[in-house]
Amino acid sequence: MTIRAQVAGIGHYLPERVVPNAEFETKLDTSDEWIRTRSGIERRHFAAEGQTTSDLATRAANAALADAGLTAADIDALIVATSTPDLTFPSAATMVQARLGMNQGFAFDIQAVCAGFVYGLSTANALIVSGQARRVMVIGAETFSRILDWNDRSTCVLFGDGAGALILEAGEGGNTKSDRGILAVDLHSDGQFRDLLYVDGGVSTNSIGHLRMEGKEVFRHAVEKLAATARTVMEKADITPEEVDWIVPHQANIRIINGTAKKLGLSMDHVIVTVQDHGNTSAASIPLALSVGKSEGKIAKGDLVITEAIGGGLAWGAVLLRW
Ligand code: UT7
Repeated sequence: MTIRAQVAGIGHYLPERVVPNAEFETKLDTSDEWIRTRSGIERRHFAAEGQTTSDLATRAANAALADAGLTAADIDALIVATSTPDLTFPSAATMVQARLGMNQGFAFDIQAVCAGFVYGLSTANALIVSGQARRVMVIGAETFSRILDWNDRSTCVLFGDGAGALILEAGEGGNTKSDRGILAVDLHSDGQFRDLLYVDGGVSTNSIGHLRMEGKEVFRHAVEKLAATARTVMEKADITPEEVDWIVPHQANIRIINGTAKKLGLSMDHVIVTVQDHGNTSAASIPLALSVGKSEGKIAKGDLVITEAIGGGLAWGAVLLRW
């Protein structure tokens, strides 16, 4: 018998305010046409004034608990993947814990930028497989609107706010690739690329700062590294591309998503795409896409799903799981 970290429930939350590309046309030298064709983004959600990352995360957490038929008392550990926490400390995770009325267990944040949710899944898997926790909630939640430079057209049109939450619980498997749950994990980072995507401020420097990105360079790394990490998890789990039901990629750019699917030899019919509606929500993008994919009746129990992401660090990785 093998212990597997299996999906018990999923949910998401998007702030009410929807901002179409056209809204940027009045403020910047940009166009709906440029944003659509270069990134695939049509609209994004922005948090209201005063609405914080832990607000979005708590809403997503409640949706995931409802989906799983569980209460906060059933959760042993809570991980929030975010680069935009409410405060320097305490962690966004402990704030969510308090707001859920969860007085047991432990909660902490993970910071791996756009790869944060994949890092969070890997950590939750380790906690469950080692027996340290039975049920772990992993939330990706961001308010990137707070770190955008509204005068930089090459970045501010690309990002959005939102949150998604996934509950994993210990279940039994037969140590085969037919098991439900996480079957393979692959994580990487390479700090030599820090200048490609970063925020030019922070607690021990001087200010909150703004997001800066060498888009073209990040793009180049993305297609190559995402295809490689997706291939690695397939090899680790002895899965062929034909067996994969869904690729749920980080939603940064439709051209990266298309390019990665092509490299893997997978048709876009097997890819969940939400970038047109959400923009790039960093650590929230994968759980948002998983939740939308499930609610649209695409991702179903027993499906083989690969999630993959890359972002600031650079940090990247993939997780292969049977839903
Ligand atoms: O989530 C973390 C991972 N992040 C990513 O994966 C993002 C990766 N990068 C990208 O998605 C793309 O590189 C971008 C969407 C950021 C940019 O697309 P691109 O095809 O690489 O465009 P570019 O940066 O080469 O810019 C092409 C032109 C430039 O003008 P010139 O120099 O050719 O005259 C830019 O100044 O487009 C210009 N440009 C814009 N024009 C209108 C840049 N931003 C805009 C804009 N509106 N918003």
